[in-house]
Amino acid sequence: MKVRLKVWRQKNAAAPGQFQTCETPELNPNMSFLEMLDVVNEDLAGRGEDPIAFDHDCREGICGTCSLVINGKPHGPHRGVATCQTYLRSFQDGEEIVVEPWRARPFPIIKDLVCDRHAFDRIQHAGGFVSVRTGSAPDANAILVPKENADLAMDAAQCIGCGACVAACKNASAMLFVAAKVSHLGLLPQGQPERYRRVKAMVDQMDREGFGGCTVTGSCEAVCPKEISLDFIARLNRDYAMALVRGEPGKVTAGAAG
Ligand code: FES
Repeated sequence: MKVRLKVWRQKNAAAPGQFQTCETPELNPNMSFLEMLDVVNEDLAGRGEDPIAFDHDCREGICGTCSLVINGKPHGPHRGVATCQTYLRSFQDGEEIVVEPWRARPFPIIKDLVCDRHAFDRIQHAGGFVSVRTGSAPDANAILVPKENADLAMDAAQCIGCGACVAACKNASAMLFVAAKVSHLGLLPQGQPERYRRVKAMVDQMDREGFGGCTVTGSCEAVCPKEISLDFIARLNRDYAMALVRGEPGKVTAGAAG
């Protein structure tokens, strides 16, 4: 099969971008979307043209780097599937496919389809960790965790930080990402000492990065490749309200006790 790609090309953050259309060489329908881009890039390089820059690493739905908007949807046509796990057989022979980077002010475009998502790292560094000593794995496992909490914490921990939630949100809100990170630690005993400082610090950093507020449209949940639930945003809001009542400083320091 062949497809016609309409790809966003942009030399750097300062340059204006534009769509470029290219016909692909013959493709196997069982190729992944990223393998298709590899083939297109080999073809472009062979003709002396600049290959399309795109982010990728694990290609197994784990790392969260394959950030592409395909035909207007972050990660493409399927629910609960990352770009790297999307296959060409999901498209028609001869179809025109529009490929764009995430579009949000806190994620500036570096080149073509690659954007800078360090804003997520800075939110994580603001408090998305446990600074108390939890011991080695056997010690940690000796602390009993209610099954319901363990399951919910695992659901939240599935967030791969890809940023699709931001890309899909009309407000460019990062609430689903922050909610997942806050919840997976806040649901476990080891995460309790910094629970309220953490949520205050991470939400404050999210605001400083320029992400918008959540108006609960649900578009984040709809495109999340790990199907992180909106319920975690409700959980974040409850913890954030409690942090305000407690007058938490919004700063997490190593060894801080709650
Ligand atoms: S390349 Fe790692 S999640 Fe897609």
